[in-house]
Amino acid sequence: MVEKYTVHPSNNISGITNVPGDKSISHRALILLSISEGTGNVSGLLESEDCLATLNIFKMLGVKIEKIDKNSYSIKGKGLYGLKETKKNLDCGNSGTSMRLLAGLLSAQKFSSNLVGDSSLNKRPMERIAIPLTRMGANINLSDHKTAPIKINSAKKILPIEYEMPIDSAQIKSSIILASLYADGETKIIENTPTRDHTENMVNFLNGNIIKVNNKIIIDPKTKLISRDINIPGDISSAMFIIVACLISKNSEILIQNVGLNNLRTGGLDILKLMGAQIYISNIKNFGPEKFGDIKVISSKLRGIVIPKKYVASSIDEFPILFIAAANASGKTVLRNAQELRYKESDRLDAMSQGLSSCNIAHKLFYDGIEIEGGKMRGATVNSFDDHRVAMSFLIAGISAKEPITVLNTKNILTSFPDFYSLIKDTGVNIIRENN
Ligand code: S3P
Repeated sequence: MVEKYTVHPSNNISGITNVPGDKSISHRALILLSISEGTGNVSGLLESEDCLATLNIFKMLGVKIEKIDKNSYSIKGKGLYGLKETKKNLDCGNSGTSMRLLAGLLSAQKFSSNLVGDSSLNKRPMERIAIPLTRMGANINLSDHKTAPIKINSAKKILPIEYEMPIDSAQIKSSIILASLYADGETKIIENTPTRDHTENMVNFLNGNIIKVNNKIIIDPKTKLISRDINIPGDISSAMFIIVACLISKNSEILIQNVGLNNLRTGGLDILKLMGAQIYISNIKNFGPEKFGDIKVISSKLRGIVIPKKYVASSIDEFPILFIAAANASGKTVLRNAQELRYKESDRLDAMSQGLSSCNIAHKLFYDGIEIEGGKMRGATVNSFDDHRVAMSFLIAGISAKEPITVLNTKNILTSFPDFYSLIKDTGVNIIRENN
């Protein structure tokens, strides 16, 4: 059965809304509370397929995780050395974050594990984590294509390393951090460009000791993490779909409450503001390890820009929807230095280029970016290429296109934003679901 949605041109998007919990922070809460001592309650956890894959894996590793209420769970931590071996495959589904972070954690355990994924995850590069983890003494084996399945055997011991990151990636950094909690000395990670620091923030919140000196992250292995309750903010990456929906439709104004505003995640907002977007942040508060706030958005006339390189890492998941903003702007938008987009749930440069072509938007593709000439998008039927963010981006594009846009293969939206359909429908978007 192919699930597809169609979005018809829509105006007057409005309301006060909340987006589901942050995907990156939800994974980290599940992982770190599972290896802490004591019981911690998580509220606002994202109940999407990706995060539920991580949750199920920890249940399989012997952690008692109970649902208290919608999006709320109690996790009885096993401590750093309390996880139990399972002979079953640990299924990460579509989730690169689960696979890469867990590879780091499981490399340091006194048992073997086998991490597997779906057909998209099985194509994604895993050598990027295997190289530093092997230097740390991990016994980790990839497929001949340097991909999953990942077979991990117990390591003799985990060594502290000093590692300069060759790629700007929070997943690689977090994988090393999780292994380094078990090392017999300080591990140092050098980041050329800072990436999301949710792992560092949460480890410190749970009594760990990670410091940052200039661009060096220094991890002091702790014998104990101590559980605390964690409140997960709304996902800025999900909020971006609503933000762009509001910006490109006429007579629209929306308030999104309690969104995570970690500075290393808000590059997408900075880019939109440079494009002329009316976006206002209020009600900022620190809540546990993260910063929260409300985002007000008003319909805006967008203009094309050259996207500054400094915003690429902090908006890496936002580019599909930012390309739709660019297609609705006057003039050219240019993105370079974003080759990482080729290694996400799909080759996002290629997938977006194909969709933009179907919608008659002139653009030039580079190996590391794209140049988009804004114009009036035409209606079309486009493929999601099995990528949730590509699917949601073209559905939002339907709001301001001349004719409706239909997106095929939309089931993958469940990996990050299960309420997408009802939430955008409630704000006034004319979206129709079809199954056939
Ligand atoms: C994530 C980091 C990013 C991002 C992914 C989630 C994380 O990947 O694209 O969706 O939770 O650490 P990279 O670190 O590989 O860029």
